[in-house]
Amino acid sequence: MDDVEFIRLNENNINSIPDIINIDDKDILKKDIKEFIINNDNYCFIGIIENEVIAFLYGYGLLRPDGKSMFYIHSVDVISRCQNKGIGTKLMEYVLKYIRNEKKYYNFFILTEDTNIRACKVYKKYADKKEQVLFSEKL
Ligand SMILES: CC(C)(COP(=O)(O)OP(=O)(O)OC[C@H]1O[C@@H](n2cnc3c(N)ncnc32)[C@H](O)[C@@H]1OP(=O)(O)O)[C@@H](O)C(=O)NCCC(=O)NCCS
Repeated sequence: MDDVEFIRLNENNINSIPDIINIDDKDILKKDIKEFIINNDNYCFIGIIENEVIAFLYGYGLLRPDGKSMFYIHSVDVISRCQNKGIGTKLMEYVLKYIRNEKKYYNFFILTEDTNIRACKVYKKYADKKEQVLFSEKL
């Protein structure tokens, strides 16, 4: 899988993607991405092979008043037939290099389940596991 191209979506290249990106059971709408990326602290990256979007990642900067802003990777997906071929690893590598070059963020974080072995394997290459407890509730 050497032929994957990764790009950050922005107002100049967004029109080159299809109206709907389908990653297995998820449909991601171009119109939603367009609105999301208006905010410069919101980021969407795609992986493309032969004009087909085969990976999608989005995240955002969480700004702190002391300048120690953090980057949160909210979602990473590679379509199932392309999984376990190194694409998730390369996507993370690309995104983290991109984010580091921005010099806006102090650290990054990402959440996943302990049971998601593949995701844990990939994320461990770039970050240490922290023993924290997440509390959440619907609003
Ligand atoms: C998680 C995900 C993004 C990873 O991307 P990927 O392209 O499949 O991952 P890679 O091929 O780069 O790496 C997978 C790693 O897991 C390892 N792995 C796969 N199955 C494994 C298993 N059963 N036991 C141990 N290791 C395993 C691979 O060997 C590889 O590690 P290596 O690079 O050290 O050899 C992708 O699998 C995915 O989209 N999954 C479904 C959605 C999801 O769970 N997203 C994450 C939510 S937080």
